Amino acid sequence: MKAGKYVGPKLVQVAEIEKPIIAEGEALLKVSYGGICGTDMMIYAGQHPRAQSSLTMGHEFSGVIEEIKGMSSFKKGDRVVVEPTISCGECRPCQSGNSHVCESLKLIGIDVDGGFSEYAKVPINRLHKVPDELPLNLAALTEPVAVAVHSVRRSTLKVGESVAILGAGPIGLLIGLIAQLNGAKDIYVSDISPFRLGIAEQMGFRAIHAKETNVVDEIRARNNNEFIDVVFEVAGSQQTVDQMIPLIKTQGQIVVVSVFKNKPALSLADMHFRELSITTTRCYTSDDFRTAVELMASAKVDFSTLISHEFHIDDIDKGFSVMKNTEESLKVLITKQVKGDLNEFIFARRKSGSSHRSNSWHWSCLGLGIS
Ligand SMILES: NC(=O)c1ccc[n+]([C@@H]2O[C@H](COP(=O)([O-])OP(=O)(O)OC[C@H]3O[C@@H](n4cnc5c(N)ncnc54)[C@H](O)[C@@H]3O)[C@@H](O)[C@H]2O)c1
Ligand SMILES: [Zn+2]
Ligand SMILES: [Zn+2]
Repeated sequence: MKAGKYVGPKLVQVAEIEKPIIAEGEALLKVSYGGICGTDMMIYAGQHPRAQSSLTMGHEFSGVIEEIKGMSSFKKGDRVVVEPTISCGECRPCQSGNSHVCESLKLIGIDVDGGFSEYAKVPINRLHKVPDELPLNLAALTEPVAVAVHSVRRSTLKVGESVAILGAGPIGLLIGLIAQLNGAKDIYVSDISPFRLGIAEQMGFRAIHAKETNVVDEIRARNNNEFIDVVFEVAGSQQTVDQMIPLIKTQGQIVVVSVFKNKPALSLADMHFRELSITTTRCYTSDDFRTAVELMASAKVDFSTLISHEFHIDDIDKGFSVMKNTEESLKVLITKQVKGDLNEFIFARRKSGSSHRSNSWHWSCLGLGIS
């Protein structure tokens, strides 16, 4: 079978390898779609502390069960999405119901082979059923949606409150969508990429150009000169760390979602004078993951707006190149089923002013069946 391998810094190659053999308690999936995310880009850049060559990347993926070994409610043919965390079950956090912060947490697609391949083996207890109404390309977004669900659940956000999201990548925009569902009143989203800010606007957020404006002054001015109730830092830059403190209300909460590549400087004294708190977030619990599947299946929100490209697995290196450019990409999916740059649909929608792309519209435009 084909597998997209990280073979060294800036090198992703398609290799022909043996189909995995499953053990008791595992399922073999025929992979449908896998999403490239910021962590994959870190692996690709050779900067990930754990990922080693020649790893089959991909921790955001959906598929169909081809074979299963062990007692389970799952069966061959079920459509599923993978919760990629693997915890030890023995450390203190695991024993106290917090296996998502297991002291030796591993991820499928980072520590062990993942889903940028035709088939993948996965422990049965890491599978979630995908409801019939949820297309498998959207189901591949469940993992980042779960990150957003977890981040908003970790926040103190209440109905009617204002939110600032610094960074309009997939995670920042998804946090915006989940905050919107939770009754946030005004949602300000900053980025340096006009392309991503355009999508933020389509989603109903107030876009702030971080290169063209003073982000703090602009957001405060648009917010009736009030501070913001909850700030999410989702860009991982010194600039956004500098902005999060003067934006937040006294005694307010900053949620740091980013994984910083370098240590940022932070003025704890400024935080002290106004009794600010910082909350961090890691991954998601299984309940966050289930909620993410349910929210996506309920179609209350159009998550398809996130998908900018779908590349055939043979073109996985192109997928990584495109993903590097935030001026043209948001979420790139790898698949065996279709090829395509979906940006034309995003731009067409932007021009027509329509903020909603229904799944059926999307799929009929592409001339594809829903798989
Ligand atoms: N907490 C978790 O478990 C978890 C899970 C997934 C991702 N993450 C982290 O969340 C962060 C965001 O993830 P992503 O996939 O959306 O990444 P991304 O790189 O696609 O998005 C980051 C965005 O920040 C923007 N940005 C850069 N500098 C900026 C600035 N000065 N002002 C405003 N925007 C700026 C970039 O243009 C980009 O659009 C990353 O640090 C990632 O590692 C954390
Ligand atoms: Zn990810
Ligand atoms: Zn553990």
